[in-house]
Amino acid sequence: MNVTHLECAACHLEHEARRLLNPCRECGKPLLVRYDLEAATRPLKKESLIGRRADLWRYREVLPVDDDANIVSLGEGWTPLLHAVRLGNKLGINELYIKDESQNPTQSFKARGMSAAVSMAKELGAHKLAVPSAGNAAGALAAYAACAGLECFIFMPDDTPRANVVECEQTGAKVTLMPGLITDCGAEVARRKDAEGWFDVSTLKEPYRVEGKKTLGYELAEQLNWKLPDVIIYPTGGGTGLIGMWKAFDEMEKMGWIGPARPRMVTVQASGCAPIVRAFAEGKRFAEEFPNAETVASGLRVPKAIGDFLILDAIRASKGTALSVTDQELIDATGEIGAAEGVFCAPEGAACLPALRKLLGAGEAQKNERIVLFNTGAGVKYLEAFS
Ligand SMILES: Cc1ncc(COP(=O)(O)O)c(C=O)c1O
Ligand SMILES: [Zn+2]
Repeated sequence: MNVTHLECAACHLEHEARRLLNPCRECGKPLLVRYDLEAATRPLKKESLIGRRADLWRYREVLPVDDDANIVSLGEGWTPLLHAVRLGNKLGINELYIKDESQNPTQSFKARGMSAAVSMAKELGAHKLAVPSAGNAAGALAAYAACAGLECFIFMPDDTPRANVVECEQTGAKVTLMPGLITDCGAEVARRKDAEGWFDVSTLKEPYRVEGKKTLGYELAEQLNWKLPDVIIYPTGGGTGLIGMWKAFDEMEKMGWIGPARPRMVTVQASGCAPIVRAFAEGKRFAEEFPNAETVASGLRVPKAIGDFLILDAIRASKGTALSVTDQELIDATGEIGAAEGVFCAPEGAACLPALRKLLGAGEAQKNERIVLFNTGAGVKYLEAFS
């Protein structure tokens, strides 16, 4: 298709595109996919999107798969951007939106990344896929691997929400529960993958999950008629969605679809695991591992992210910020958003609401701005957190 090469996000070393690759062979940082965007824009125009398929593959020309036959799809993406009128009224904001990612296959935005990653793994000849996960990525990988007819090996902390474990088992994955955190699960995959012949689908350790996630940025622009919002509030663990959107904005600007203006990118984390918030406050480009990470918002329990510098770069370049909220705040917010809007958010997504209140209180967001909260998953998968 239009992929030219893979580029290391840190040292910029070029890597060949048509091979199964993990991080940069020189410096170990994430590889990003680069496209011939001029070629992409010949068939792909804003107007030509009308009538295209109602999933993320509508942006086919800026996605990595070569042969359509390799696309592994369960209908991911093209989720609604809900105008949160009642919640907005409570806060005095006219233009408050919720991008509702709970409406994806497997009920979270992880479906986007896994659709792209599994399609590429299939195209490039992988047979066995392995992933460490906080829960939702596992559910998504299991589903897409099943759909592709590939074997799937999942490693999750033993206190991952039960729904995530059951969904993986019921979609044919081999599940290992481990004591510790997602980082321990990642180390286990890294230790065993060569001997087992697994392709490691850890976020940002393979180049394509971010390609699926970047469609969040394309959709947001398209749904808002090509005018990006003023503020995006995003619950950040590994940061793939935020990094992906930031990449999408650059691509769209190069294609002439949007101008140079960018939303302020706001990372929200749980106070029990806030490595990005801490690094942002300390003015650091890389985040140190957050000790004793703990939060019911399991997707935010990522004490160390390989893409930390990309998250921090985007936040700073956009004049955004990073802030944390307590577990009590994010659990309370789940009920508040649910009652006001009828959306039963994942606790990670609900964390955006107390974050917004803090921004308004600190004068870092204004009531007359257009603000988008990301509900990244479905509350129904976290029943333990609400008992
Ligand atoms: C519901 C939910 N929200 C947010 C996140 C964090 O996502 P990211 O890795 O893109 O920061 C996760 C990750 O597991 C998640 O499951
Ligand atoms: Zn590198």
